[in-house]
Amino acid sequence: MSLAISQAPKLPRSHTPVPSQMTSKTTSLIELPSDLDCTQLPQHIAVIMDGNGRWAKNRGFPRIMGHRRGADTLRDLLRCCKDWGIGALTVYAFSTENWGRTLEEVDFLMTLFENLFQLELKEMVAEGVRLEVVGNLDNIPASLYDAIDKARAATEHNQGVRFTVAINYGGRQEIVRACQAIATQVQQGSIEVADIDENLLSKHLHTAHLPDPDLLIRTSGEMRISNFLLWQLAYAEFYVTDILWPDFDRRAFHQALLNYQQRHRRFGKA
Ligand code: FPP
Repeated sequence: MSLAISQAPKLPRSHTPVPSQMTSKTTSLIELPSDLDCTQLPQHIAVIMDGNGRWAKNRGFPRIMGHRRGADTLRDLLRCCKDWGIGALTVYAFSTENWGRTLEEVDFLMTLFENLFQLELKEMVAEGVRLEVVGNLDNIPASLYDAIDKARAATEHNQGVRFTVAINYGGRQEIVRACQAIATQVQQGSIEVADIDENLLSKHLHTAHLPDPDLLIRTSGEMRISNFLLWQLAYAEFYVTDILWPDFDRRAFHQALLNYQQRHRRFGKA
């Protein structure tokens, strides 16, 4: 039997340096910390939100509590991106490999995603967030699909943070599908083999609406890319922190941005 979100106990947040909920009534822009250069901010940040299970285990809670807290953390980060002028945030919420988790955990996650898209929709609209969901959405629950559809439509004209959630996403699968689509065009004679270049392939990826990420953040200390945005992360700066995702707060994000601003991005050049 699946565990509904409402059945999972709520936990108080242990440390919340700033008002955290996207549902906060505060609408004024919260200032960028003075040690960050507003001209050198990454415009697109990708995040592998890892460590929810360990966070919960360390506290003697079921794993799903880590996911629930992880969703709060994500809400905070999205608001922070808005406050600090980050244009796009893309998060890895569920990989093609995550179906291998227990039925209870998979059900919980699907319901959590659906709840986020439904319950936060009003606030996302008010905050100007433009939501996109990428991945293979063919075999997700119908109710989740409907919630995504509705949230996408309601936010499509928004001009604020471009918030992209990867669900049932796999980077290799994405590239294979892009190649199949391009091969079909060649077969039909609408393009020539010589027309195939990096730009064309990028246009066939789920992320065609976004510039490539400047920064990839991965929590929980794992040094892996885990099949996330394999093409798009070619020149991204990687930042790995030991902090577990539910504890990744505004302070931790600030550190990640400071670290990013110390990098010299060379894009393969001298
Ligand atoms: C990885 O931690 C996390 C996930 C597979 C789920 C991520 C989902 C959220 C943060 C929920 C919020 C997202 C949305 C879009 C509402 P893990 O479970 O692999 O942790 P572990 O490595 O410690 O076991």
